[in-house]
Amino acid sequence: MAVVALGHREAGSGLPLLLLHAFPLSSAMWLEQRELLSPHCRVLTPDQRGFGGSPLGDDAPSLGECADDLLALLDRLELDRVVLGGLSMGGYVAMELLRRAPERVSALLLADTKMSADTPEGRAGRLRTAEAVEQDGTAALAETMLPALLGPTTLEQRAAVAGRVRGLVTAAPAAAVAWASRAMAERPDGAEVLRATDVPALVVVGDEDSLSPVAQAQEMVDVLPQARLVVLPGTGHLSAVEDPAAFAAAVVPFLQALPG
Ligand code: MLT
Repeated sequence: MAVVALGHREAGSGLPLLLLHAFPLSSAMWLEQRELLSPHCRVLTPDQRGFGGSPLGDDAPSLGECADDLLALLDRLELDRVVLGGLSMGGYVAMELLRRAPERVSALLLADTKMSADTPEGRAGRLRTAEAVEQDGTAALAETMLPALLGPTTLEQRAAVAGRVRGLVTAAPAAAVAWASRAMAERPDGAEVLRATDVPALVVVGDEDSLSPVAQAQEMVDVLPQARLVVLPGTGHLSAVEDPAAFAAAVVPFLQALPG
């Protein structure tokens, strides 16, 4: 295992909020949240290894490696504790960070994600995705993934969002996408980790999220000791990108209510 030095973008000051991006995107997906949340906190958005400005490294695929990279980033930035947030794959990585270093997390934001490990069929699908992207590239992946990443409302009414997400998927390096897909296939169940996470938690989900639907968000709320659920209407799996203002409107009061 070798830690990779992650690139990150940040904005604002004060309470540190670490936001982890979805698959197969990069910290660029948090552009609007950096703008909308930075008057209220210090928003830090790293690129997971292989994506954006971060090198891939040579480790075998595992989201645990991504969590170790993040802990090294926090050390480098001299941040003892952060509000930890992740959307979808970012949520899976957040659970791996909590498994390793719960003392570094003062509050938790989970969006459009789930705590369960993959089913055997889900795992097989991820391994097929990894092979397909190595063979056909990310432009083809964008076409197959877009209808799942975005809700019907966005696909029908927000052409600029769809175009931007297509561009982000296409820009992702195929090797990073394949690595992350194999790493997600290996991830363990997160229920025990969340049950032990006794900090304020906010779970956000788009009501049109077909990849991590509302029922799976509710499952996380049920095991987290201090969680609240916010369902965002008219958004799909990439809720923070599809309706940035509604996402920020859910997060800001959560941040403001945190102790200290
Ligand atoms: C993501 O948005 O990060 C992925 O859709 C997660 C997943 O495939 O489980």
